Amino acid sequence: METISSNRPKIVVIGSCNTDMVVKANRLPVPGETILGGTFYMNPGGKGANQAIAAARLGAEVTFISKIGYDLFGLQALEIYRSEKINTEFIFTDQKSPSGVALISVDSFGENSIIVAPGASRSLSTEEINKAEEKIKEADIILMQLEVPIDTVEYAATIANRYGKKVILNPAPASTLSNSFLNNVHTILPNRIEAEMLSGIKVMDVESAHRAAKAIENVVITLGKDGAYVKEKDEYTMIPAKEVETIDTTGAGDVFCGAFSVYLSQGHSLAESVKFANAAAAIAVTRI
Ligand code: ATP
Ligand code: RIB
Repeated sequence: METISSNRPKIVVIGSCNTDMVVKANRLPVPGETILGGTFYMNPGGKGANQAIAAARLGAEVTFISKIGYDLFGLQALEIYRSEKINTEFIFTDQKSPSGVALISVDSFGENSIIVAPGASRSLSTEEINKAEEKIKEADIILMQLEVPIDTVEYAATIANRYGKKVILNPAPASTLSNSFLNNVHTILPNRIEAEMLSGIKVMDVESAHRAAKAIENVVITLGKDGAYVKEKDEYTMIPAKEVETIDTTGAGDVFCGAFSVYLSQGHSLAESVKFANAAAAIAVTRI
């Protein structure tokens, strides 16, 4: 994929840092069941971190606002962000909580189930957002998710709005959101489950995605291997995903959000940005 080198967009990502403990298995266990899986992987993760890295790899100047524990996982994560040329000045340390961890199972279709122990992510505060206000002021886009406290995310959206910045929200994990918060969001990027939470409509196909999108303002509903459904003002577009061999979908949504933000920040429409994001996310699902 082409990397954008001139006129680098400035993106502030506010979100979680996790270490992912991943096991691949033929299928996901049912409650109460033990199954034997395959290889174990320990990977850097967290929706915030994944989105920050995706945006940085696509050429953006990224500041990541996050929180780690005073432990090895946190320090390893910091090293990784630095090697990705991400500004880590506003990654705070919680002396009392461990760094976030995610337990992830991936089945033979590449589908996953995830439990996050957020640890230090849970204590990212509004005061810490204040410390990074200058970066928000300089940014083209503020990209956030919901693995850090919602009060902090809402507060950051208010500040970003004060400076006329575009706020992109990936409302994951699914949560109910107030209208006052949504009014400060330029585009929301839910997956099927999150779109249902926001609209009250079960999203299974293009028709139900259309009904859900009608209930939300600027929205991109990601539909896994089917692609994404876009509503920009009064225009609705279904944009198919690329057909690829799927190994692991973990983080596909994050790569999508990072790539989408980079392209949008360069003045492209939502639909054009989704085409770019579909391509980036398709690459992500072909690997662990
Ligand atoms: P995850 O939580 O697994 O990171 P998500 O649930 O947030 O993902 P999805 O809607 O599953 O988000 O996928 C996001 C985007 O990733 C899709 O819109 C699509 O562009 C791409 N994608 C996901 N799965 C596939 C697939 N199997 N083949 C090609 N592209 C895919
Ligand atoms: O979206 C995938 C991410 O969700 C994983 O990296 C995991 O850490 C959880 O935050």
